[in-house]
Amino acid sequence: MHEYRIAVYPGDGIGIDVIAEGVKALKASAGRFGFLLKMTEYNWGHRYWRETGQVAPDDFLEILKPYDAIYLGAVGDPQNLPDHITLVPLIKLRQTFDQYVCLRPVQLLPGVTTPLCDKQPGQIDMMVVRENSEGEYIDAGGAFKVGRDDELSMQTAIHTRKGVERILRYSFELARKRRRHITMATKSNAMKYAMVMWDRILAEVAPDFPDVRFDKCHIDALSMNFVRQPEQYDVVVGSNLFGDILSDLGGAIVGSLGLAPSANIRPDRQYPSLFEPVHGSAPDIAGKGIANPIAAIRSAAMLLDFLGEPGAAQAVEAAVIANLAEGRVRTPDIGGRHTTSDVGDDIAARI
Ligand code: NAD
Ligand code: IPM
Ligand code: MN
Repeated sequence: MHEYRIAVYPGDGIGIDVIAEGVKALKASAGRFGFLLKMTEYNWGHRYWRETGQVAPDDFLEILKPYDAIYLGAVGDPQNLPDHITLVPLIKLRQTFDQYVCLRPVQLLPGVTTPLCDKQPGQIDMMVVRENSEGEYIDAGGAFKVGRDDELSMQTAIHTRKGVERILRYSFELARKRRRHITMATKSNAMKYAMVMWDRILAEVAPDFPDVRFDKCHIDALSMNFVRQPEQYDVVVGSNLFGDILSDLGGAIVGSLGLAPSANIRPDRQYPSLFEPVHGSAPDIAGKGIANPIAAIRSAAMLLDFLGEPGAAQAVEAAVIANLAEGRVRTPDIGGRHTTSDVGDDIAARI
């Protein structure tokens, strides 16, 4: 029986609640499909910080390296610690393990109400592909004379030809398995170095994929179209920050951020990939037991698929779809009255 090793990093706030439910789904799927999961949990985040004064140990990347995958809840405890400290391990993980593809499916599922009044299930079905290793999230900059009237700060984005080309090629390949259409987010009307380079590389790469329709759209208009006509998009690719913003918007138009999964992928598998919901630690509902665990459970399905257990992944996704379609056991964000663990139990039982 094959055994996979998973590092479980629940993190902070609702991350802890939703990962507990995702673990139930993982265990149920392993039982049904006949493989073993060796899951090791790490209490990094605010809990570890209370004990040690650090959010993660210095060697946390070394600790994670041998795993087959990492399953993360959410990090961030803004009442106690500044976000730019708490979130360092997450960004370091993505960049050091070069998980350069961030996949964020945006699908309107049957049984869920969208705030867009005229859209039906099936009409919103896109994949946001976020460049996850560089761009606006590179740690390049500095602050000078902090707090003074003449304070100065500089935050430099770095986009490389290699980084842009590989994410565009990945997106074209992915489009071939979907509806053969990619849209690239740009802003080349104002950002005349980096985004002009993205436009140019798109034009260079596209002829290698003559069977895929491609276009580009400025990020402002693209955001508007996510609300106005999301049905026109299939694969939507963008820089790190553009992809971040589009994926929260994507969660909102399909009914709740609590339904939106994500995968941070290192395609050649030299390092483990990381699976986590799109949402954060949600301090406004933390500790209330009402966070929707479906984003985390669907992220577990993406993890299983990446590990090479597509049957188990489909069973988890099917259980989520059945739960939503029935509509009996659901959390308040999508109009229900049940708790996080009620939903997790219902989905695990269906698996
Ligand atoms: P958030 O995603 O935590 O919450 C935004 C809104 O969505 C809140 O109203 C919240 O209640 C709601 N929401 C989010 N997930 C939900 C769920 N599963 N069920 C029901 N409702 C849900 O974003 P925020 O409030 O901007 O950030 C809170 C903290 O999380 C900050 O510290 C932020 O930096 C961090 N954060 C971490 C990650 C991550 O770990 N990947 C992602 C985003 C934000
Ligand atoms: C996400 C989050 C992170 C990001 C934060 C927590 C650094 O918003 O995963 O979408 O911006 O990448
Ligand atoms: Mn985000």
